Amino acid sequence: MDKLIAIGGGPLSGKVRISGAKNAALPLMISSLLTKETLRISNIPHLHDITTTMELLGQLGVKLQVDETLAIEANASEVESVIAPYELVRTMRASILVLGPLTARFGRAEVSLPGGCAIGSRPVNLHIKGLEAMGADIKIENGYIKADTHNKRLKGARVFMDLISVTGTENLMMAAALADGITVIENAAREPEVIDLADCLNAMGAKVKGAGTDEIVIEGVEKLGGADHRVIPDRIEAGTFLVAAAISGGKIKIVDVIPRQIESVLDKLREAGCQIETGEDWISLSAPVGKLKSVNVRTAPYPAFPTDMQAQFVLLNCIAGGTATVIETVFENRFMHVHELQRMGADIELDGNTAVIKGVGNLFAAPVMATDLRASACLVLAGLVAEGETVIDRIYHIDRGYDCIEEKLAQMGASIRRVPGHYFSQQSA
Ligand code: UD1
Repeated sequence: MDKLIAIGGGPLSGKVRISGAKNAALPLMISSLLTKETLRISNIPHLHDITTTMELLGQLGVKLQVDETLAIEANASEVESVIAPYELVRTMRASILVLGPLTARFGRAEVSLPGGCAIGSRPVNLHIKGLEAMGADIKIENGYIKADTHNKRLKGARVFMDLISVTGTENLMMAAALADGITVIENAAREPEVIDLADCLNAMGAKVKGAGTDEIVIEGVEKLGGADHRVIPDRIEAGTFLVAAAISGGKIKIVDVIPRQIESVLDKLREAGCQIETGEDWISLSAPVGKLKSVNVRTAPYPAFPTDMQAQFVLLNCIAGGTATVIETVFENRFMHVHELQRMGADIELDGNTAVIKGVGNLFAAPVMATDLRASACLVLAGLVAEGETVIDRIYHIDRGYDCIEEKLAQMGASIRRVPGHYFSQQSA
C-alpha cells in the first residue's frame, strides 16, 4: 500500500486549480441511468470514487467513454442488470444513489446495504422511506435493499426528511424526475451539489424547482433525454488548500472555484486572521504575519460550516494561539483524526461530539494512519507543518476524494512525495 511522506517546511505559495466536485460528479454520472440518451459530463475529477462509479455503472450495462479532458459520456440505453453488489457498495457508500434512478426507470433495483463506516453508522432509512412513499415496495433481504414497483410507475408524493440528507435528497429527486405526478421533498438538503444535480436533470428535460432551498418540487415527466453538463468546482478541495496555506503562513490563489459556495469556511479563515479576497471564480488568501487565532466551529448542513472541513479546522486550531471548541453535529464518530494529531503533539480533549483544542504552536512528525477521506487530508496538512518527516499510511482514503493532492501541494512548494508500500518493507528487511 502506498504511503505519503510529508516534511514540515515553509509557507505554501502560488496558484492552484480546483478540480470538479466529487460529491457533484457521482450523482451526475449516476443520473445517466434515467435516460436512454447520452449524458456528457465534463470537469470530472481524477479520483478513485469516480473509477468505482464507472465500474458500478459498467456492471449495470451503461456504456461509458472518457476523453482526454476527463469528460465522460454515459449511455444507459441497454441496461442489463439492476443489482449494485456489496463489493462495490462497501467501498463507496454513494453507490446507494443508483436505488432511486433504477427503481424509477426499470421498476426494480437491488442495492447492497452499505453497512457502517469509519465515521459512524450512516443509515439509509430516509432513502427507503421516500421511495416507499412514492409507491415502491421495499424489502431488506440478505443484506440487500430490494425495491419493486410491480411494473407500475412511481407516484409523486410529499416526503418529509426527518434529517437533512444530501444523497437522500438526490436519490429522491432523481426518482421523482420520472415519477407520475408531483413530488415535494420537505427539509431537503441545500448543498450546491444538490443544485448542480437539479440543473443537470432540468437540462435532461426534468421539471425540478426549488433546489437550493429546503423545499424541492419535482413534476415527474415520462422520459428524460441527454444533456451536456459541467461539474461544479470542489468546495471542499478548495477549503482544504486554503487551510493548508493558512497553517503554513503562506499566500495562495485558488482558481476555478465558486467563492459563495464556501462562505462559511472563508468567514472562519478571516476570523482566524487570514486576509481573503475573492473574484468571480478565484479566492486569494494571505496568512497573518504572527500566529493564527483559534476559531470555534460547529458543523451543520449547508449553508452552515461543512462537516467535510471539520478535520482541517481541528488541525488549524492545533497550531493557533488560544483555545477553541469544535462541535460535530452531522456524523456521530468523526473525530478519528484527533487521536493521530495527539500523537503529533496536539492538545485536544474529546467529549462526545465536542473537541476542545488548545493551540500548541508546533506539531512533531510521527507515523500516522488515515482513517477516512477528510481525516486523511487533515493528516497530510499536519505533516506539512510538523517538525520532521511524517509518514501517512492508508492513503487510499485520500485517493478516493482528492485529485492529485501531492502534485498540487508540491506545486505550491510543499515537500511531499508518494512512496510505494514495498519501499518500507525493503527498508525494514
Ligand atoms: C454526503 C456527502 C459527504 C458529506 C455528507 C454531509 C456525498 C457523496 N457525500 O454524504 O461527503 O460528509 O453529505 O454533508 O455527497 N442519515 C440518516 N438516514 C439516512 C440518511 C442520512 O440518519 O437515510 C444521517 C446520517 O447518518 C448523517 C446525516 O443524516 O448523520 C447526514 O448524512 P447525509 O447528508 O445523508 O450524508 P451523505 O449523503 O451520505
